[in-house]
Amino acid sequence: MNFTASSAQLLNIKADSLILPTGPQLKDSAEALDKSLDGAISSLIKAGDFTGKSSETLVMHIPGASGKRIILLGTEGATTTQQQIKVIDAGATALLKTPSVKAVWVGEGLSDDAEWQAGIVARSIQTASYQYAHVPKSIKKSKPKKLTSVTYWAASKAEMTAAKKGLSYGAAVGNGMNAARQLGNLPANICTPSFIAAEAKALAKGPAKNRAKVSTTVLSEAQMRKLNMGSLLSVSAGSDEPGHLIVMKYQGAKASAKPVVLVGKAVTFDTGGISLKPGSGMDEMKYDMCGGASVIGVMNALIETQLPINVVGIIPAVENMPNGNATKPGDVVTSMSGQTIEILNTDAEGRLILCDALTYAGRFKPDTVIDIATLTGAVIGALGKVTAGMLSNDDELAEQLLSSGTRSGDRAWRMPLWEEYDELLKSNFADIANIGGPQAGTITAACFLARFTKTYKWAHLDVAGTAWVSGAAKGATGRPVPILMDYLRSKAG
Ligand code: BES
Ligand code: MN
Ligand code: ZN
Repeated sequence: MNFTASSAQLLNIKADSLILPTGPQLKDSAEALDKSLDGAISSLIKAGDFTGKSSETLVMHIPGASGKRIILLGTEGATTTQQQIKVIDAGATALLKTPSVKAVWVGEGLSDDAEWQAGIVARSIQTASYQYAHVPKSIKKSKPKKLTSVTYWAASKAEMTAAKKGLSYGAAVGNGMNAARQLGNLPANICTPSFIAAEAKALAKGPAKNRAKVSTTVLSEAQMRKLNMGSLLSVSAGSDEPGHLIVMKYQGAKASAKPVVLVGKAVTFDTGGISLKPGSGMDEMKYDMCGGASVIGVMNALIETQLPINVVGIIPAVENMPNGNATKPGDVVTSMSGQTIEILNTDAEGRLILCDALTYAGRFKPDTVIDIATLTGAVIGALGKVTAGMLSNDDELAEQLLSSGTRSGDRAWRMPLWEEYDELLKSNFADIANIGGPQAGTITAACFLARFTKTYKWAHLDVAGTAWVSGAAKGATGRPVPILMDYLRSKAG
């Protein structure tokens, strides 16, 4: 998709679609447009065909201009960033339903922040263009989308300059989300730990426009054994697919600048292991690698935006299966940190792979570490599918993530890490148990991780509720790529 910004005369821009955000009262450019069309827009409002309420869309053809259309996009009542993002998403979805090839998006009537708004527009159009295609059947069925270019129209030169920045950032975020979605949606017989490792390597070998240096290394099970990653290896023990620890480095700043380390859970399929999950809906456990996929999505976006920052992405990638070598409830393992773990439930496997990856993260002398994981069903009970759960040992980092969540519309909500919760992880046979009982499951899972993150600033994002949607629209969402990119962008300055 090609994104540009322009402040030229609106009707002089060549396009077959024009997206016009407006409430019931036409303002400025909407009014001028209406006049040039002999009141075609205002008459639709007068007649009640279009009311202007938030996210309403109406496609009208321009009289006398064959094949050209205006997509009216309702904005009334959209005042928060969240509401405005919903409106833009609705506009992008409506646009992609048309056979439009070249569109103009009128950057008026919604937010005054042209850079932010253009960023969301590009991101929304990019994600609305995503089509899952892998197995031959779906390729035959899906009609390819035709849209190739979008011009963001800005009222002034200053806004146009700001919008240009926003467009390239937002397009990169959208591409990163789509990369994460594609990996998430692939079935677990294709998207294995080795497949993810190969994708990570391919990304690092991509087109060398890079000012930043990108490299990927993959640790094998033998190498992890040498590092004493007994906890991580206890999860892949029950699978015929070998586990991998994928390490991606993006160096956009000088080598001495401390990196942000992102650690993403990639369980390519979570059967629960010997603590086997019930069968119904188990197919969705192919999405248990979405934390790792979001790290690859962020790397993708970093390479595209060339942000001046150093980022290390660590992805522990395993499959959780119950074969004859599988870990059994009651087994005790020793983690890389030296702490011993009593595995009371083999379905609480995410924390077992993350703890060793988090210990390994310490090697990079991190500025900050953020882990991303589809870690607990309990987070869905607590927060639904709206927001990620966030837990942190640092108040400033937590605040920064909250505001990145609001700005990007990819929100997180903080939960506590108090010692009363940590006490639930006591074990009679090891330093720590891997489950804390039926209460506060998201918090006890994070308390487990917190025992391995004492030497640096750390936040944990539990994205079990937000990384994919179930039901008729089943599919990966690409979250939390937007909040992570906003955080990194703010940090890069
Ligand atoms: N991958 C699951 C978490 C999950 C469950 C995500 C449902 C999305 C939907 C995780 O590995 C898991 O099984 N967690 C257990 C922990 C429990 C055994 C303490 C859970 O949430 O039930
Ligand atoms: Mn599990
Ligand atoms: Zn899991």
